[in-house]
Amino acid sequence: SIPVDNVQALAASIYDQDSTSVPPRYLRPEAKTTDPIASDGENSSLRSLISLDLSIAVPHKKSLPSFTTPLQAWASSSCWCIPQLINHGVPDEVIEKLKADIIDFFNLPLEEKKAVAQLPNDLQGYGQAFVVSEDQKLDWGDMLFLMTRPLHIRNMRFWPTRPPTFRDTLSSYSVELKRVAATLLELIAKCLGIVPEELLDIFEEIPQGLRINYYPPCPKADEVVGLSPHSDATAGLTLLLHVNDVPGLQIKHQGKWFLVDPLPGAFLVNVGDMLEILSNGEYKSIEHRAIVNTKRERLSVAAFHFPKEDAVIGPLPGLVKGGKGKYKSEDFRKLLGILQFQTRGEESCDAS
Ligand code: SIN
Ligand code: FE2
Repeated sequence: SIPVDNVQALAASIYDQDSTSVPPRYLRPEAKTTDPIASDGENSSLRSLISLDLSIAVPHKKSLPSFTTPLQAWASSSCWCIPQLINHGVPDEVIEKLKADIIDFFNLPLEEKKAVAQLPNDLQGYGQAFVVSEDQKLDWGDMLFLMTRPLHIRNMRFWPTRPPTFRDTLSSYSVELKRVAATLLELIAKCLGIVPEELLDIFEEIPQGLRINYYPPCPKADEVVGLSPHSDATAGLTLLLHVNDVPGLQIKHQGKWFLVDPLPGAFLVNVGDMLEILSNGEYKSIEHRAIVNTKRERLSVAAFHFPKEDAVIGPLPGLVKGGKGKYKSEDFRKLLGILQFQTRGEESCDAS
């Protein structure tokens, strides 16, 4: 990977000098983004398209049928949305503490954040998305990426010690989100009509990574992209939280971008390519990107839940019943190798 500038510092220097000199490598007018704050109403918003209410299914599993309806609607081919999960049972306190620590972390001076800087060819730590060529366009954002589960995989070198509570809040959040992901996977399996273990075995121990995104405002918000278009290639299930309630996530449908406008405190549930394949296409991995605005920074946290390392990824046997699936099977390890270093161009997938 090729090192690139810190975007937060770059944005600060541009705003300080009151100039609009965004370096050309960030400019992508062809992306036709629209400032989601300035141009209210121009973006088709998806606010209440579909809500998954986890409180209906948990802990009173008896009422499961009323939950499977939106779950089934979600899986139906006509649904191209990213549902939002409400009443998920993650304590407000855990979410609020995480949000506060994330904001504090990104407010630290650059040198302090660099204590957990990425190392070459490793996505973990504080830095930017992979850049593999000198002419690759750059994203208008920084990130902190950490592998959080299974526990033995944690590399504490990349876990910030400032703010002092950050490590603990990350750990608490990780446990809660793992539980939510496990519940969702079980419900998805039931909804697909297969034995839940068939799906849950693939996600044994629920390997998890947290990607915390920081998008500074940009004077040329209409010409830059916060996070390039991609689908969550190596993930099964991604749960996305908006940290400061600034919109910016867009999903693509029939060639057009739609802005997602989440309810505060809800998790956006994003199917990754791995779950699309496992479900034999019943659940769709949707192409998405993040855009920025001229006024406010935007922060988000994506919790990726991955298949176990030695999983074989293909349509689950219970779904194809001996027939031919829509996807061929492949070792997850091999897929990881292919996807991890893929170039992120305007329309390609990334390694998230
Ligand atoms: C976002 O910041 O909303 C997008 C995050 C992602 O795709 O990982
Ligand atoms: Fe993503």
